Amino acid sequence: MGERLWADIDEYAASLLHPHDVVLDEVLARSEAAGLPGYNVSIGQGVMLQIMARMVKARSILEIGTLGGYSTIYLARALPEGGRLITLEADPDHARVARENVAQAGLDSVVHVMEGDAQRTLPLIHEQRMGPFDFIFIDANKNAYPTYLDWSLKLSGPGTVIIGDNVVRGGAVLNGDSGDENVKGVRRLLELMADEPRLTATVVQTVGSKGYDGFVLGLVD
Ligand code: SAH
Ligand code: DHB
Ligand code: MG
Repeated sequence: MGERLWADIDEYAASLLHPHDVVLDEVLARSEAAGLPGYNVSIGQGVMLQIMARMVKARSILEIGTLGGYSTIYLARALPEGGRLITLEADPDHARVARENVAQAGLDSVVHVMEGDAQRTLPLIHEQRMGPFDFIFIDANKNAYPTYLDWSLKLSGPGTVIIGDNVVRGGAVLNGDSGDENVKGVRRLLELMADEPRLTATVVQTVGSKGYDGFVLGLVD
């Protein structure tokens, strides 16, 4: 049992449950052609995020870390009429590709790609009272996850779901002596979530086409 089997199961499940979506295929093709890294969630993970957003009937979604807008589109499709999604992206090239992808998906009136370092745009979102959000997906630079949790809590209300991606990191999260800023960031995030009385949280480990990793799921009281 190993990576190959995990990837095969992902492919089997995706071909069975998620028949080809031309729009999303093109989103990935455009992202790759533009030289973006393949850091997007898998198909199954995208659908999982979409299901979770629908389960809580999210009307407002915040995403931190857009890349080419792949997870963005899954989440935006979960929104009811009149819903909105704000996604934060520091890299201007990524933001440009994401805007094009979102437009091709017919979601440009729903999704706002906010360009700039999220550590600068999150305070603006707060100041301008653009929250609270029903659903928050944290998926940008892992060293800043603790800061992103702080802002997410400020932008939350009762029932807000906060999800963090890539918190298992092939098991590297276990290493408390790690010098890796990404590992330090996710470990600190989990500690802060544990200490936050408003949060009920759990880690869901994942295997598949994206290797061995995991999500932290949090629910705000
Ligand atoms: N959510 C996407 C993947 C995001 S990859 C998907 O699943 O499809 C992480 C993204 O975070 C990259 O595009 C990177 O440029 C962006 N990023 C990194 N540091 C950032 C920062 N400080 N502020 C905003 N975005 C950042
Ligand atoms: C990587 C994967 C991710 O899902 C992400 O958000 C950032 C980086 C990676 O594989 O390095
Ligand atoms: Mg990720």
